[in-house]
Amino acid sequence: MPLADLVPIQPLPPFVAAEQVTDVLLARYAALIYRRTGIRVSPQKKTLLSNRLRRRLRETGIESFEAYYRHLSALPPGDPEWDAFLQEITTHETYLFRDEAQWRWFSRDYLAQKAEEGRAGARRVLRIWSAACSTGDEPVTIACCVAACLPNVERWNVHILATDIGKGALEQARAAAFGERAMRLVPEEYRRRFFTKAKDGPLWHARPVLTRMIVYRQHNLMEPLAGPPFDLVFLKNVLIYFDTESKKTVVRHLTAAIKPEGLLVTGAAEGVGDLLKGFVRLQPWLHRKPGKQA
Ligand SMILES: C[S@@+](CC[C@H](N)C(=O)[O-])C[C@H]1O[C@@H](n2cnc3c(N)ncnc32)[C@H](O)[C@@H]1O
Repeated sequence: MPLADLVPIQPLPPFVAAEQVTDVLLARYAALIYRRTGIRVSPQKKTLLSNRLRRRLRETGIESFEAYYRHLSALPPGDPEWDAFLQEITTHETYLFRDEAQWRWFSRDYLAQKAEEGRAGARRVLRIWSAACSTGDEPVTIACCVAACLPNVERWNVHILATDIGKGALEQARAAAFGERAMRLVPEEYRRRFFTKAKDGPLWHARPVLTRMIVYRQHNLMEPLAGPPFDLVFLKNVLIYFDTESKKTVVRHLTAAIKPEGLLVTGAAEGVGDLLKGFVRLQPWLHRKPGKQA
């Protein structure tokens, strides 16, 4: 018996068709995304946004881009549908030891100096913030360097805060498991010391010596961060999606979250150098906050 006789053939719902958001609706979505995240969606992203939206329409059963816009704009920021939407529209590309020169500086200069200060009797406390941590590769890289470069690391109080706006990315980060592609720059010695991998399993799992230093939390960079300030902040490959106004807001919150004389590491193309008023530029990607008197 032909299958068609058994299963009534339904017409495809309109949202499955290869339809695109109109220019007017694209502008409304862009304004909504901008208000909530600081991210600029350019008109060139029309096809991309339409494809990502189509996935949300399929998931939610909402029948049009217009109706989904109305639904989304009425929801508070913490609603699970916002999390799912943000997961679709943000870029999560990351891997361990991304930008190797920065990790060389962190290990050989920054941590070597901290170790020296610790030996000389300074408080063995280190507070580091990975401010857009995506799936956790960056905070685990920080932890690897700390575990490798601070002698007697167990006698140090190291606190690594890892935040991201994306709940899905954070869930993956908390699992602290990485595929071969994400691990491609991890030195052989670090793989052996700080990760485990089942013989036939595809994933490398960070050992507790790393994960116990890290606390994960959802946070939008457009909001201030509560809590004590940090010695060092990593803010990499995120503000490239922001316009100058949003960057200024993020920089204001970041500045408040860094201790006097504390350091900020950015991506090479972050485009915040000119906005960091009073900071000393030590490298194109490394900035020192002024001390109390400055
Ligand atoms: C390309 S990843 C960068 C990951 C990592 N810092 C690196 O350089 O490899 C960008 C991350 O920024 C996050 N993001 C985008 N807008 C944000 C916002 N307003 N607040 C916090 N995180 C945001 C995204 O969810 C994404 O995980």
